[in-house]
Amino acid sequence: MRKSCGIHSSSMDRHACIALIRGHIKDEHLIRHCLATGTVMKHAARHLKEDESCWERIGILHDIDFEEIGGDMQRHGAVGADILETEGIDPAEAEVIRRHNHFLHQGAYTQPVEIVLQAADSVSGLVIACGLVKGGNLSDVSVKTITKKSKEKSFAAGCDRERIALVAPVIPLPEFYGIALAGLMEIKEELGLR
Ligand SMILES: [Fe+2]
Repeated sequence: MRKSCGIHSSSMDRHACIALIRGHIKDEHLIRHCLATGTVMKHAARHLKEDESCWERIGILHDIDFEEIGGDMQRHGAVGADILETEGIDPAEAEVIRRHNHFLHQGAYTQPVEIVLQAADSVSGLVIACGLVKGGNLSDVSVKTITKKSKEKSFAAGCDRERIALVAPVIPLPEFYGIALAGLMEIKEELGLR
């Protein structure tokens, strides 16, 4: 039986989550980042027998405040959690989003959902970048490609390798790359990839 993460009937489905972020985020690149993080979270949850819908929702919604904070990273996460609580999201989920800002909460992650969110947030961009160097063909990307490219510091330099590595005690890294790739493959058209 899958574990619940305290979600009640007010939970939003994927469609509603996407509609909600579209109300707060105009940058299509950022929307894709949210969808990508969501699918990696969903697939990691499936692997860990956690609540897939809950983890996917947290992934999709985690950067909902990014345009609203106007670059003030001290407010990132907190503003998002406030928006989501107003929207009726489960407070436990909003709290994960509040704390995901690693500039403020680095080193304080203990729950698997928080640890995996750190890694999913960073690995999604890395895997997408691997797809882009293959001419947009995500199907041509393998775990070997991701492992190799992750070792090149200048490649997708904004994707923090240390945040990705946090996942290792929960899911070994090569396995996590495979999970991330499977997740992104599932929604590749939505990400503008093939
Ligand atoms: Fe993010």
